[in-house]
Amino acid sequence: MRLRKGKTLRTQIGIVGAGPAGLLLSHLLHLQGIESVIVEARGRKYIEERIRAGVLEQGTVDMLVETGVGERLKREGLIHHGIELRFNRRGHRINMYELTGGKAITIYAQHEVVKDLVSARLAAGGQIFFEAGDVSVDGFNGTAPSIRFVTDGKPRELSCDFIAGCDGFHGICRPSIPSGVLTAFDRTYPFAWLGILAQAPPSSNELVYAYHERGFALLSMRSTEIGRLYLQVPPDEDINNWPDDRIWRELHLRFAADGDWKLTEGPILQKGITPMRSFVVEPMQYGRLYLAGDAAHIVPATGAKGLNLAAADVRLLAQAFADFYSSGSTHLLEQYSQRCLRRVWKAQRFSWWMTSMLHRFDTDSPFDQRRQVAELDYLTGSRAAMTSLAENYVGLPWD
Ligand code: FAD
Ligand code: DHB
Repeated sequence: MRLRKGKTLRTQIGIVGAGPAGLLLSHLLHLQGIESVIVEARGRKYIEERIRAGVLEQGTVDMLVETGVGERLKREGLIHHGIELRFNRRGHRINMYELTGGKAITIYAQHEVVKDLVSARLAAGGQIFFEAGDVSVDGFNGTAPSIRFVTDGKPRELSCDFIAGCDGFHGICRPSIPSGVLTAFDRTYPFAWLGILAQAPPSSNELVYAYHERGFALLSMRSTEIGRLYLQVPPDEDINNWPDDRIWRELHLRFAADGDWKLTEGPILQKGITPMRSFVVEPMQYGRLYLAGDAAHIVPATGAKGLNLAAADVRLLAQAFADFYSSGSTHLLEQYSQRCLRRVWKAQRFSWWMTSMLHRFDTDSPFDQRRQVAELDYLTGSRAAMTSLAENYVGLPWD
């Protein structure tokens, strides 16, 4: 990064947002010898502690390891070869490893990925402006894009060749694109997830997705000591209606199974409610502004795809910038949106399907409920159907 007169800075790629998308993009660009600067609204501590996703696809893990930010992930991540689907008080294991020819998922919290990427960027001399206020993007419809923001009480302008909008669903990049350019595809679901982090060893070695007449429940984990559990709740639910003992009571009911399985309780360390939504904008680019990750699309959490899609987007964006700077060709930049959207829509389909199969919908008739159980029964008895779930869950091949 070179300082120009006054408080104007200059870089090649200006990145808005230090979530997984922005940080990984900056890291991949650095490996290609391309400069970038990240402008982030929140503080470092906040982004490094924000509890979110936890399931990494095989391809995401491989990318982090191959690009040198996977040391701690390899040491601390929990590799899972299967998941369990539970309904009618019985568990059914999907052996993803066997069904996909040796692929797995790794449980490693999103904020740990963020920590690893922040420390790699800073160690390599990368610049991240934390706690940036009044962030705005400009000039991307011409040849002189810039990001304006306030830091330490001083206004700054970062001029760049391109802007990467990695500022999540509620960011400013997508709304800065003139109206009429983007088409939005949107679906909301009539429920949300109440998620807890608990000081309780996970009651199962693998994730358990439970369909129950009282609603969906998911058992996941962050380590051998810390459990992460979710309950389907009404979309406008108030967390104050859920004291800890009510949460555990409900989890016991929804995970109940024949045999000697037992849910281990422990102190709840954190709890929150996340809405379920599917959203995509097309195209994911306008002029010299490229959207990546949640800024362009969100998925309901059931398929565990949000973070992985963000990684897949920036992999393509970094390739496209690298091609532009090495050959002058804009071909891959022009293809960026179309190439991302093929994967995005497959992840949308999978996430919608998992969500529809596993949740109770208030509007469902007894016919629908029997159909849902029949679908689970078919799925867990058919190698073809289990293979389809497994190859989507561990992550479809790149491109
Ligand atoms: P984000 O992680 O949202 O990062 C965007 C960054 O931009 C943030 O750091 C934000 O502070 C910053 N920013 C925003 N506005 C501005 C601005 N104006 N200027 C500068 N910076 C700005 N996915 C799953 O697969 N499983 C889960 O269990 C799961 N749980 C989730 C729980 C919650 C509460 C949320 C919100 C999401 C969850 N997701 C989950 C989705 C997953 O976490 C996201 O898909 C992933 O974070 C996307 O990464 P991103 O970098 O695109 O966006
Ligand atoms: C987790 C989140 C998910 O959305 C999911 O499908 C599986 C696991 C988790 O937070 O561990």
